[in-house]
Amino acid sequence: MNKKAFQDALAYVQSQLGKEYPIIIGGQEITTEEKITSINPANKEEIIGRVSMADQELAEKAMQAALTAFESWKKWRPEHRANILFRAAAMLRRRKHEFSAYLVKEAGKPWKEADADTSEAIDFLEFYARQMLRIKDGFPVNSRDGEYNQYHYIPLGVGIIISPFNFPLAIMAGTTVAAIVTGNTVLLKPANSTPVVAAKFVELIKEAGLPDGVLNFVPGSGSKIGDYLVDHPKTRFISFTGSREVGCRINERAAKINPGQIWIKRVIAEMGGKDTVVVDKDADLDLAAASIVYSAFGFSGQKCSAGSRAVVHQDVYDEVLEKAVALTKTLTVGNPEDADTYMGPVIDEKAFNKIMSYIEIGKQEGRLMTGGEGDDSKGYFIQPTIFADVDEKARIMQEEIFGPVLAFCKARDFDHMMEIANNTEYGLTGALISNNREHIEHAREEFHVGNLYFNRGCTGAIVGYQPFGGFNMSGTDSKAGGPDYLLLHMQAKTTSEML
Ligand code: SER
Repeated sequence: MNKKAFQDALAYVQSQLGKEYPIIIGGQEITTEEKITSINPANKEEIIGRVSMADQELAEKAMQAALTAFESWKKWRPEHRANILFRAAAMLRRRKHEFSAYLVKEAGKPWKEADADTSEAIDFLEFYARQMLRIKDGFPVNSRDGEYNQYHYIPLGVGIIISPFNFPLAIMAGTTVAAIVTGNTVLLKPANSTPVVAAKFVELIKEAGLPDGVLNFVPGSGSKIGDYLVDHPKTRFISFTGSREVGCRINERAAKINPGQIWIKRVIAEMGGKDTVVVDKDADLDLAAASIVYSAFGFSGQKCSAGSRAVVHQDVYDEVLEKAVALTKTLTVGNPEDADTYMGPVIDEKAFNKIMSYIEIGKQEGRLMTGGEGDDSKGYFIQPTIFADVDEKARIMQEEIFGPVLAFCKARDFDHMMEIANNTEYGLTGALISNNREHIEHAREEFHVGNLYFNRGCTGAIVGYQPFGGFNMSGTDSKAGGPDYLLLHMQAKTTSEML
């Protein structure tokens, strides 16, 4: 029944392909000559849609629209802002398969990953709306005799939301609605490889009742409008999810005070990861192999949470490697529209070339156990690839590849495993597979990542259950789906009145 419904949704989305999507500024639809042509990464010939691109003039117009809308939106009661998110969640729930089908087509997500992405978007809408209701009155503070003190939160202003291709619905929607429900207005610049699903979401939240000007949709190039908006003196905050390189660039540019600017900009940045699944001597080795393989190859490894490193105790290394290789060989790579495909394509030509060049590096740095092949004749397909016996300092153990490439590294003992696990510049996720209680407690302290998992894989954080965000070069540790996430989009005000 669900399978049929999903197939129907794919057929419906097929009938919608090739449409044009406008920029939206202050509720006005604007079509430009210059467009992003969004293609299906599994079939380069297929055009998902054409999306108008904003230039600096339109980016400025969008900023002005957001500034105007902020003056009224900030005065909306938090309950009423939250209601729009609840309505959007209900609408998205009803149209779940349709949105997932767009994710299959535009991002190359297999069904399961597409469904998880849409589900997470629904969760973000529900969760942030509920969180807003919890924090709307601020927190209690003490008042002495003859004094009445209050402490509550107000919005910041206009935010720039720059979202990634890998969760083109969930992270795009989550970062956008967190900013909106807290009373800010935003300019959304979606990833250039996945702008259509963002455009569909913008349509949906308008239908849910969002007033014009609160969410302005400005697809465009990073160098043309991204920098312009980050530098803009009226930008109050930037919420970015994407590569470390771009995140650091944004942080640096945002730190500069430009003429007319009267605040320090806030940057929320979720960047890369080089995440490790660690396998102890005393562990369930089938669980270890499954945790390694699914963490490495889910959505072709295109997750900042992907477990691209397996660090295994020398006593069980050969056995875990053998099991992981055998399991990887069962994974199906192909058209994500087929229900039984485990891995679809990678997102685009640039990603394909980058990943293939890391596979060449891997051949120098390790022993190729499986995979190693790519085929970009129709779409951007790369086989799940495992390299064994990789040195802990090797490039494929240190650099984020963002593709289906996994390095196995042998460790002497538990301390050595922890040392390797912490030896990158990142600190996003990690997992320990172990039955040793002492080691679990030790890792709880020593394993320096924002999301640490025991006896499971290191991807798939759930909103409200595992708030998600990392340390060091993984970003600002802004925990998406966590109890304090909304506060990052607000500022606290203390009032004290003498009685
Ligand atoms: N939140 C996702 C995960 O945990 C990654 O963005 O896998």
